[in-house]
Amino acid sequence: MEKRDVMQDIMDIAGDGKRFAYVRSFGCQLNVSDGEKIKGLLKQIGYSFTENEHEADIIILNTCAVRESAEDRVFGIIGSMKKLKEEKPSLIIGIAGCMTAQEHIAEKIKKSYPQVDFVMGTSAINALPSLLLDCLRGKKFSADTKEYDDFSEHMEQVRESNFKASVPIMFGCNNFCTYCIVPYVRGRERSRRPEDIISEVRQLVSDGYKEIMLLGQNVNSYGKDLENGMNFPALLRELNEIDGDFVIRFMSSHPKDASCELIDTIFSCEKVAKHLHLPVQSGSNSVLDRMNRRYTVEKYLETVDYIRAKDPDFSLTTDLIVGFPNETDEEFRATLDLIKKVRYDNIYSFIYSKRSGTKASEIDDKIPEEVKSLRMRELLEVQREISTENYKRFIGRKMRVLVDGVSKKREGYVTGKSDEFIIVEFEGNKSLIGKFVQTEITGSMNWAVIGRKL
Ligand code: SAM
Ligand code: SF4
Ligand code: F3S
Repeated sequence: MEKRDVMQDIMDIAGDGKRFAYVRSFGCQLNVSDGEKIKGLLKQIGYSFTENEHEADIIILNTCAVRESAEDRVFGIIGSMKKLKEEKPSLIIGIAGCMTAQEHIAEKIKKSYPQVDFVMGTSAINALPSLLLDCLRGKKFSADTKEYDDFSEHMEQVRESNFKASVPIMFGCNNFCTYCIVPYVRGRERSRRPEDIISEVRQLVSDGYKEIMLLGQNVNSYGKDLENGMNFPALLRELNEIDGDFVIRFMSSHPKDASCELIDTIFSCEKVAKHLHLPVQSGSNSVLDRMNRRYTVEKYLETVDYIRAKDPDFSLTTDLIVGFPNETDEEFRATLDLIKKVRYDNIYSFIYSKRSGTKASEIDDKIPEEVKSLRMRELLEVQREISTENYKRFIGRKMRVLVDGVSKKREGYVTGKSDEFIIVEFEGNKSLIGKFVQTEITGSMNWAVIGRKL
């Protein structure tokens, strides 16, 4: 059946009354972006949105599988929804996102959580109307977890923000880092056509969006599957040509593919933010090898040196995993050494979580959880000192800030991110939200800097 017929059937069965949807996305920004497409489809079918699950006629949890804690959290929420369903039997509950792409999880949901009406795979967002129609026609449980290779181009989206927009440029991952579930739940790399990305960004800028965040699991391999010779730096240069007052960000960059051309492009394009998120994961060559990261610490530091030779103050952030199976104390110390050398402005660190189906899950890990927690605490302590010291370099500097909201810590202040991805707080009110403001930095802490509006 055609999609528009399905939509019409849904509206015929559901009637004209106001219907509410509660959609909650977990995990990375790519998943949040999928959540915006799910909302777009629901809007087309006539739903309005609510933040109150008690008010909802349909609830969709758009899940993440990257760590066990993320999955446990979702199972807890699904469990608590049993009561909601008892109170309102017409409520439809759907589970979407990365958890559903693992067969054992989809089975577990079907078997142990009868309150769930449907399960929808990561590339099956377009199947939402048919799944919904099944539910409205009284079918007990439906699932569509097939891998479709259509990108849902030109799909309506209900965006979370009216000044910051995420734009996926590619989907999937080919890297198979041994700890990571993403390639199994998101499939192989597929790049969107540059003309589609450029026209989406052009539209967003003309709609007044100020920050464009380009997304992919490894943006540096953008275009490798296209025939037009386009690579990621070339795409950045094209986007930089679009007229308007906006900043271009991107994530994530795999260090093995972070080229000099990419770095030169960051420096030569005035709209590309002067910040690079370069996930290193570990400072030990033996761990990087066991992780299948395909670079060495020395190679990574060459990239950092290339950047810092152009600008010694350039802002870098990273992801780190603590407690990879059988990580020795010496290997962990190598990570501490690396962060002291690179002096990141911020790190995102995670305790290793075993993911069934990945290569690392087969390793017999002898490191106790308490040791991993202690290492994590030490890592955070060392980084705190680095950030405190680092942030002092911004005092006296002028920074452009895109204001995100009002400060939760300081009354009468607003908070936002500078082009360097540093949190800046300064006196102001909510009329500044969504605007670029020039500030001068007057003080620093270990997580943000304080400024004044110029
Ligand atoms: N594609 C991105 C890259 O390679 O940088 C990373 C995407 S992943 C969703 C975000 C971060 O989660 C990774 O950089 C890694 O630090 C962390 N991560 C992934 N799998 C993990 C696991 N099994 N346990 C703990 N952290 C994990
Ligand atoms: Fe996971 Fe590695 Fe792919 Fe990133 S590059 S998504 S860490 S497999
Ligand atoms: Fe993202 Fe989590 Fe999936 S990090 S790609 S939502 S497993």
